[in-house]
Amino acid sequence: MMPSHQDLAKIQWLRDQLHQYGYQYYVLDEPTIPDAEYDKLFVELQSLEKQFPQCLTLDSPTQRVGAPALLKFQTVTHEVPMLSLANAFDDQDILDFNQRLCDRLASSDFQYFAEPKLDGLAISLQYENGCLIRAATRGDGKTGENVTENIRTIAIIPLKLMGNNIPEKLEVRGEVFMPLQGFNEMNQKALKNAQKVFANPRNAAAGSLRQLDSKITANRPLSMFCYSIGQVSSGFLPDYHSDALALLKQWGLPVCPESSLAEDAQACLAFYQNILHKRDQLPYEIDGVVYKVNQFKTQEQLGFVSRAPRWAIAHKFPAQEALSKVIAIDVQVGRTGVLTPVARLESVLVGGVIVTNATLHNADEIKRKDVRVGDTVYVRRAGDVIPEIVRSLSEKRQQSLDEFTMPDECPVCGSEVEKIEGETSIRCTGGIMCQAQRKEAIKHFASRKALDIDGLGDKLVEQLVDLELIHNISDLYQLSIEQLKNLERMGEKSADNLIKSLKISKKTTLDRFIYSLGIREVGQATALSLANNLGNLDAIKHAELAVLEQIPDIGPVVASNIKKFFSKIENEQIVEQLIDSGLYWQNIEVKPIELLPLHGEIFVLTGGMETLKRDDAKRQLQELGAKVSGSVSKKTTCVVAGENAGSKLDKAEKLGVKVIDEQALIEIINVIQ
Ligand code: IVH
Repeated sequence: MMPSHQDLAKIQWLRDQLHQYGYQYYVLDEPTIPDAEYDKLFVELQSLEKQFPQCLTLDSPTQRVGAPALLKFQTVTHEVPMLSLANAFDDQDILDFNQRLCDRLASSDFQYFAEPKLDGLAISLQYENGCLIRAATRGDGKTGENVTENIRTIAIIPLKLMGNNIPEKLEVRGEVFMPLQGFNEMNQKALKNAQKVFANPRNAAAGSLRQLDSKITANRPLSMFCYSIGQVSSGFLPDYHSDALALLKQWGLPVCPESSLAEDAQACLAFYQNILHKRDQLPYEIDGVVYKVNQFKTQEQLGFVSRAPRWAIAHKFPAQEALSKVIAIDVQVGRTGVLTPVARLESVLVGGVIVTNATLHNADEIKRKDVRVGDTVYVRRAGDVIPEIVRSLSEKRQQSLDEFTMPDECPVCGSEVEKIEGETSIRCTGGIMCQAQRKEAIKHFASRKALDIDGLGDKLVEQLVDLELIHNISDLYQLSIEQLKNLERMGEKSADNLIKSLKISKKTTLDRFIYSLGIREVGQATALSLANNLGNLDAIKHAELAVLEQIPDIGPVVASNIKKFFSKIENEQIVEQLIDSGLYWQNIEVKPIELLPLHGEIFVLTGGMETLKRDDAKRQLQELGAKVSGSVSKKTTCVVAGENAGSKLDKAEKLGVKVIDEQALIEIINVIQ
């Protein structure tokens, strides 16, 4: 069928809207419409393109994963070579660099532009009449690989440029990288599924772009910042690099927001210090900063030496990775009894911090990385996370070293250890008999998000437990100034302050109190949900499993952890003692579950939802008192069938269960709320 003028206009309108919203969401990080609204427009465009396949174009927002897997990447030649940068490692190197430029130009009348040096891989994007037509890796600078299909899957990269006055030909260069959150989540998932983990975000980004099947790349959390223009139709290049970046941004391309003008070498050094301090808070990894002469004419005047420009330099940060030697592998016992092996290392400077310990997570991880006492290892520290061992240089072993095995009893209390079902970790069975678990439980109780007891640090907790002044959290409130003032690093004043903080901590909230008890897998969000839904401690203590499972965020495992915790007599006693010591909070008024409007109803959600996210729909139904089940039975009162609903819908029809669509569900929720 031929599309009408109206269809064509609608298709174009939808594409423009989606490009615009995508730009606001991904590049500016300022979404202007709800996700659901975006999805609606997207689905509408998809269905029009399905109806009129002749209208499909490669720059359509629907075409991010469109091509079949490749057999191999094609080679591409960079018309303008992709250069590398000379490196500087300290301030003096930068002052020397600046002096060289001043000498060559016989003037100091020029400015720099300073940018973070992103830790990913360089990519060239070619746009023709505003459409992305080719993307290539840097390769050896002269030839790279054609990775267009993979680059097209990265949401932040526009398939079509926006705005006016776009050059017919434009080659943009920049760095593709993997933001830290995505990297960590991806590795955690891989660990769970016993798949390969990436050593760092740079390897992860490179590995993700080197996939022959773009569907794999599409599932990787990649991003990009553009930092220069390669080839461009004549007349389009402004006079300054900073203006070129501003133009790229105007055309919808992502540009790093941390970059800025730097008047002279001193301003460059100040920029370096500023970014170095910010480094741990940035959501992506950087390995230094880059200073570039800002005026293109001056850049031209300075030219190149071998394969690096004279007008730019990379000022590197101290390395985040270093080599060290494993002196020992100790096993630590955490709050919930989980045994964690920790490598004791020969001290080494990593990213400007002295590192002597690195976590090894669990026995499987040690095996996978083949880490043994005596090995030389790569240690890595990123942001404020605990340093870890990336890999062992087992090929450097000079004599045979013993493989490490986890102990079969708790190294602290000697109790048996048990394997945690479905996980690779093992746990001490000693419970609060185990001194290590007791210490961790008390540290957790005193921590900021729990009862926030000022002045009760980890070291002090350890002393108090070691000296048997306290055995559990409720003993804290029996401590006296006399007992405290003679402890190491304490005095009358600190002792008095701690007693005051303990007193202040007694006034708390129900959710903080529940969180502070350290019930397995009950984090802040779950504690808050318990407090808001059950309202008081008695209701939480005595809630049946079925009631707990009705509460948003709580599944069968967490429900059973809560039940088990309160059924232990020693926990009951501790809670009572805490209340007797004067801990108090305000209860929350909640409607009894029986009075909730959907109490007794059992819903099943099936098929794709357009507007509501399935988890949201589930939560909202639960908040209204309904139970949400995963399978249809005679007891089911209502099935919500979304797009492509399958066997559950068939079963519901067979059993005569009421079936509604997503719109009807939204109406029910709106009317009741
Ligand atoms: S400019 C001629 N700017 O660093 C200038 N490069 O060592 C070429 N890089 O291959 C690059 N952040 O992958 C430039 N803000 C930035 C950068 C940057 C990271 C990478 C790029 C390049 C390598 C050079």
